[in-house]
Amino acid sequence: MESFDIATLRAAAPYIYAHQGSTFVISLPAEVIASDALSDLIQDLALMQTLGIKLIIVYGTGVFNRHTLGVIKQTKMRQLQHTIGEQQTRLEALFSTGLVNTPMAGMKLTTVSGNFVVAKPIGILAGVDQQYRGEVRRIETTAIRQQLEINNIVLLSSLGYSPSGECFYIDEFQLAANVAASMPSEKLIFLSQEKALLDSRKQRLKFLNLNDTDKLLKRRKSLSKSMRTYLELAIQACVSQVQRTHILSCSQTGVLLQELFSHAGAGTLISDHHYDEIRPAKINDVGGIQSLIKPLEDEGILLARSTEQIERELDHYVVIERDGFVIACAALIPYQQEHCAELGSIAVHKEFQHEGHGTLLMEFLENKARKLAMQSVFVLTTRALHWFYENGYKKCPLDTIPVHRQQMHDMQRNSSVLVKSL
Ligand SMILES: CC(C)(COP(=O)(O)OP(=O)(O)OC[C@H]1O[C@@H](n2cnc3c(N)ncnc32)[C@H](O)[C@@H]1OP(=O)(O)O)[C@@H](O)C(=O)NCCC(=O)NCCS
Repeated sequence: MESFDIATLRAAAPYIYAHQGSTFVISLPAEVIASDALSDLIQDLALMQTLGIKLIIVYGTGVFNRHTLGVIKQTKMRQLQHTIGEQQTRLEALFSTGLVNTPMAGMKLTTVSGNFVVAKPIGILAGVDQQYRGEVRRIETTAIRQQLEINNIVLLSSLGYSPSGECFYIDEFQLAANVAASMPSEKLIFLSQEKALLDSRKQRLKFLNLNDTDKLLKRRKSLSKSMRTYLELAIQACVSQVQRTHILSCSQTGVLLQELFSHAGAGTLISDHHYDEIRPAKINDVGGIQSLIKPLEDEGILLARSTEQIERELDHYVVIERDGFVIACAALIPYQQEHCAELGSIAVHKEFQHEGHGTLLMEFLENKARKLAMQSVFVLTTRALHWFYENGYKKCPLDTIPVHRQQMHDMQRNSSVLVKSL
């Protein structure tokens, strides 16, 4: 029997559900259109569309270097129109054949384009008339929405039209950001040929909030011009209520699907949602907490807790949530009479470890314990001894913790008792 990856499908199911009916604006630069990656990418876009995602694709021309783009005269404009015609034909052809030789070969995908972007001339910059260089005046969002409602994929070139009947060239990335901001869009996605953004440990930067993005732009001088543009536009989009901006490197096949339908992702997500914010657990989180700690209980790393026990102690739990999933949790169980509290069930999903979540939870709960006038925090651990040492905890005999807790202690687990004075 052929192998079937049940775990992957199970992990993807909540994302499929969450993305259904969402609108994604995807920026497709000319370099990607010209690359070998395009036909696989179109298949992935087609799959997304069949999963109920509404797609607006803003494609680029690549005729001019966007960073040195100067005045656009009539001859340049004609050249642009010609290129856009070619790009559009290529995309339409691929969307028509995109699902051939796949189990979805019978699916019909319709793309549509039109005068959805109303443009105005940029005018005179530093005394020079920019002629056919334009900027967005308005996006015809109602017309676009009508097309999305009937399951058409909207293709937008970097041309906009003025009410006086003229045609202007608009920067494709700026256009994508404007489109995403002008209508309720869940995501703005920049597909690029840039390498993934890395942190100082050479690990992919999976998530940036607006503050981090701003710092990165100011501090990392080595960022390429394109990456700077993406990051700047991501900030602009977030400020304009676009929930999330993703920067994905197309050098990796399946990057879109991996980013959108897996915990691990594949690119960098920029959002002003405070993902790393810790919040008290709610009853709906019980399932998430359980699936996070169950594998660790099975391995003997964490003490087993039943659903009822978690529900009973829910007020003591805090979680960190990302995309509707509990990615980390911890509990602080106070022992009022003994003026101490136990730090328990501290767990971070393995895809999100080494990002500071564990330390954040620990510090948060230690502060909570201070506010509750506790004098110390203790923890029973089998595997994270050194992590706690590094965070100021010291090994202590079992009889230092409250008697009630000593009685519940499972000798077989042989866990170490660690205490930190507050
Ligand atoms: C322990 C745990 C909560 C840490 O969470 P995290 O978000 O990955 O940790 P942070 O990003 O805040 O800190 C990372 C640092 O802790 C270190 N660290 C993580 N787990 C460790 C462990 N078990 N032992 C020693 N050090 C550890 C990392 O090496 C890293 O240090 P470095 O940057 O010098 O390499 C997480 O690894 C986890 O859920 N582990 C399984 C459950 C568990 O052991 N819980 C504690 C039992 S009570």
